[in-house]
Amino acid sequence: MPEYDLLADLYNLEYAHDYDVPFWLSLADREGGPVVEWGAGTGRISAPMARRGSKVTAVELSEEMIERGKRKNESVEWIAGDMCRVKLDKVYGLAVCAFNSFLCLLDLEDALDFLNNAREHLAPDGLLGVEVSVFSPEELAEPSVSQLRHDFTRQLSEGKLDRFSASRYDPASQIMDMRLFYELYDDGGSLKNRRAHELKIRLTTRDELELMLRMSGFSVESIYGGFDGEPFDSGSEHLIVLARRR
Ligand SMILES: C[S@@+](CC[C@H](N)C(=O)[O-])C[C@H]1O[C@@H](n2cnc3c(N)ncnc32)[C@H](O)[C@@H]1O
Repeated sequence: MPEYDLLADLYNLEYAHDYDVPFWLSLADREGGPVVEWGAGTGRISAPMARRGSKVTAVELSEEMIERGKRKNESVEWIAGDMCRVKLDKVYGLAVCAFNSFLCLLDLEDALDFLNNAREHLAPDGLLGVEVSVFSPEELAEPSVSQLRHDFTRQLSEGKLDRFSASRYDPASQIMDMRLFYELYDDGGSLKNRRAHELKIRLTTRDELELMLRMSGFSVESIYGGFDGEPFDSGSEHLIVLARRR
């Protein structure tokens, strides 16, 4: 079962942010042509792109996420499939793999399969944008035995969602093993739902990502550390790489 099937009902509550959306919209305007979003979740980025007039295909592994995405915008074409392997019958001017979907690929083989597949689905000269989170040294440090972190509280229209986590990073495999604990409260403050999930991601670095892109037939065009085009440096929380099909 795809990991995100079990998280799908919380996803829109957990990730309501849109600070990255204008960046992807302006790229879609600039590049023209249809857009494919790989690992599109519930359409947080695909839906506003389609609303603005782009023809968008959203590829997603989890049917539960897709079901929620379809409710956001009817014109997005949703494809259930594995972004490393799925074959679409179109090529695109812009491909987006944002907000850590790339980190869901847990080994180099899948990462390279994905980049090759993404390249095959780009028109000549098409652009791929990959964005991943950069973790701080504190987040990567070995946790003490029972270290539970309070990640956030989201105020909802009815109640609130709290997330706690205990994560362990293994520098040898680059895998971050996250244990996530959710508490959902109603507006009277009563606990409605409490549950735990395990989620694994594989972290990457600027140079590793650039090298993988070069190996997969891309020329890296720009690297940013934020959605206003800030340079990538040791304080950056995001790594955004734009690479053109060679
Ligand atoms: C952190 S979410 C990001 C979703 C979306 N990009 C966003 O910005 O909100 C990662 C998504 O990638 C999807 N995913 C993970 N591995 C995938 C794969 N091999 N093929 C397609 N989707 C995948 C997950 O199911 C999940 O919905």
